[in-house]
Amino acid sequence: METEGTGQGPSRRQVLSAAGLAAVAVPFATRRQAPALVRRAGVAGAPPPEQVHVQFGADAASQVAVSWATAAAVSRPRLRLGRASFGHGLEVPAEERGYTEALTGETVLTYHARLRGLHPDTQYVYEVLHDGAAPVAGTFRTGPRGRSGGFRFTSFGDQAIPAAVGLGLGPWTPNAGFIVPAVERLDPLFHLFNGDLSYANVSDAPVATWTSFFNNNTRSAANRPWMPAAGNHENEVGNGPQGYLSYQTRFELPDNGSDEFRGNWYAFTVGTIRVISLNNDDVCLQDGGFSAFRRDNVPGYTANGDNPYIIGYSSGEQQRFLERELARARRSDEIDWIIVCMHQVAMSSAHFNGGDLGIRENWLPLFDRYGVDLVVAGHEHHFERSFPVRGVLPGSTLLTPAPQGTDASLMDTSTGTVHMIIGGGGHSTPTPVSDFDTPHDGVLITSVGPGSAQVQHPAITTTEPAPWSAYRDLQTPYGFASFDVVPHERGGTTSITVTHYGADLGSPVYSPRDQFVMRKPLGMDRQRDQLAGTATTR
Ligand SMILES: [Fe+2]
Ligand SMILES: [Fe+2]
Repeated sequence: METEGTGQGPSRRQVLSAAGLAAVAVPFATRRQAPALVRRAGVAGAPPPEQVHVQFGADAASQVAVSWATAAAVSRPRLRLGRASFGHGLEVPAEERGYTEALTGETVLTYHARLRGLHPDTQYVYEVLHDGAAPVAGTFRTGPRGRSGGFRFTSFGDQAIPAAVGLGLGPWTPNAGFIVPAVERLDPLFHLFNGDLSYANVSDAPVATWTSFFNNNTRSAANRPWMPAAGNHENEVGNGPQGYLSYQTRFELPDNGSDEFRGNWYAFTVGTIRVISLNNDDVCLQDGGFSAFRRDNVPGYTANGDNPYIIGYSSGEQQRFLERELARARRSDEIDWIIVCMHQVAMSSAHFNGGDLGIRENWLPLFDRYGVDLVVAGHEHHFERSFPVRGVLPGSTLLTPAPQGTDASLMDTSTGTVHMIIGGGGHSTPTPVSDFDTPHDGVLITSVGPGSAQVQHPAITTTEPAPWSAYRDLQTPYGFASFDVVPHERGGTTSITVTHYGADLGSPVYSPRDQFVMRKPLGMDRQRDQLAGTATTR
């Protein structure tokens, strides 16, 4: 421990004050109680905390939540917070939240400690614990305030788990494990996880799948926030009205004003970036949440009216949230970048899923109107990125996005939104080369055929010109992207340098395969005014 001078350790008061912990507020009412009649483990022999992971609150400079799980109910779950130089100084009780898995009847218990009043750009240490078990340690760094400093974040989607569980129905590869230390080595401030997390919805052992997922990722996620978007494979039909109850229970995400849809969409600020996480199943035409295994094995599936096809489920609530968030971010002098983290894509060059017309109809006009800079997504299991796009190609009935500029290495996002597909997290089905047409075109889902709760609606696709596509990697099955943010450059610009790291199946070596820079002028007020006064071409 770094103590100087007298040779005596600091007093508890000095620790609290120096560590900036005095302002940490403690919890909040329990929203979702654990199922009744859960037997508490005795103090002796309590199972240890596991699956530890960190999330930012709405203000990354001052708010963090730490979450974990236990294999059985425990007594007095809590977190001890401190600073590396001073040890642990403050104890914060954790909220218990649980759910019952519809497929197996298992009870899952999770714990969440919310921390507020933290100091910006500061390294903290913590332990999570409960009576009768050894603490588990982690660390996190809060975000910088405004333009005070640069930072790095990383992103991928579509990970799955590193080894088979149950009957092995869900996807798994060694790369789902290898990618975690590869991310950790880059020491990002946070990680954006673009949906399709564990793929528990296609597993015969969904709880074990989630356990594998978090215990694999905790090597990084206990030390930096992994901020998720809910993908189609988070839809575990039977777990809550839209199948997201497991996702909602396991993560503690910034409040979106809705109890019912908590965590499905949310926003947070880190430095001069506003990140907005969306759930695209609300607008996608594709029937992506369907699971034949759950249809055939969730007790009472038909009698309960379970249905994984949930397009339109929020009745516009998510869209209203998105427009409010975008308008507020664009008005703010504190925000230079708007980044959307979501799962399914607006554009794709692959006959894998394809882009989804529902996203073009519902989200892209708002992205245009409020000048979203970057979208990170997954769903397609390859790497591809667009030029900045705004508006649509003249006369396009498919609403094909119109590229603004032709330089694939340096892009000005004040002219349009860059879309990235980063779907190589670790799943077992990379987009095959045969899914890409020659000559290069785009693939779009325009509707679905007949289906029901019992029969998946088939996607109906068409092809289109793809002048929006700036770069795609047909050869590298696995990878993630890093983003180095410089909030203020000489000459009055701000930039993000993006590097895609790729690896082959079975290889733990993730090496740089692609790099480009997004740069835009600071002081975007005039351009904001132009945006506000320009009707989109849709
Ligand atoms: Fe997906
Ligand atoms: Fe996926």
